[in-house]
Amino acid sequence: MFNRIAPRYDLANRLLSAGRDVAWRKQCVREVPEDRPLRVLDLATGTADVLLTLMRQRPNVNLALGLDAAKNMLAIARRKLADKNARLLNGDAQNIALRNSSVDIITMAFGIRNVASVEKALQEMFRVLAAGGKLLILEFSLPPNSAMKKIYLFYFRHVLPLIGGLISGDHGAYSYLNRTVEEFPYGELFCQKLRSVGFMQISARPLTCGIATLYSAEK
Ligand SMILES: C[S@@+](CC[C@H](N)C(=O)[O-])C[C@H]1O[C@@H](n2cnc3c(N)ncnc32)[C@H](O)[C@@H]1O
Repeated sequence: MFNRIAPRYDLANRLLSAGRDVAWRKQCVREVPEDRPLRVLDLATGTADVLLTLMRQRPNVNLALGLDAAKNMLAIARRKLADKNARLLNGDAQNIALRNSSVDIITMAFGIRNVASVEKALQEMFRVLAAGGKLLILEFSLPPNSAMKKIYLFYFRHVLPLIGGLISGDHGAYSYLNRTVEEFPYGELFCQKLRSVGFMQISARPLTCGIATLYSAEK
């Protein structure tokens, strides 16, 4: 599905989120320390928007890796990163082709919801992170306020699939988006999953009235 929607993925993101997706990724990158050289792995990197934000804002990153399962998303990422010193890998977040404890930071924006086994992916993240390393996960969630939740769900169920379908030419893809978001555990439920894998210092920060959440955890 991501191979199919790749050419219009960035445009759809900007329009459907009214530009908030850019602010959310910046928020995520702000949590990356600035005081020492870092090796960073961006999982489900897609068209590399997290990596681009990271490389603009954190000159202390001396190794930037992006991994994604969809070759067409990576082709766009490669073009966007042409003048940057980043490496891109085609692979599965549930079976990361890196050594144990080999990166200091892992980011994953709007990717964890898509993997077949969340537990397996989190275990792999724990394995490749160095001790003291930090995991930052951005994912959609639902607003806690019930009126806001109603408005949001109406947009999400009826408006977003329509507009997303028109932009991308793929109506299935954007109704998949709303189904996966509504089914995915968020907030404390997701923090429990992080805890069960062994992560510590776990926090969940709701963004834009709770329609996205930034999770932070340490190994
Ligand atoms: C919604 S996009 C997010 C892309 C990017 N992180 C962003 O912020 O725009 C989800 C991405 O997850 C990738 N993906 C889905 N399942 C994956 C898996 N098991 N391993 C690696 N990437 C995966 C898709 O190919 C897609 O590029």
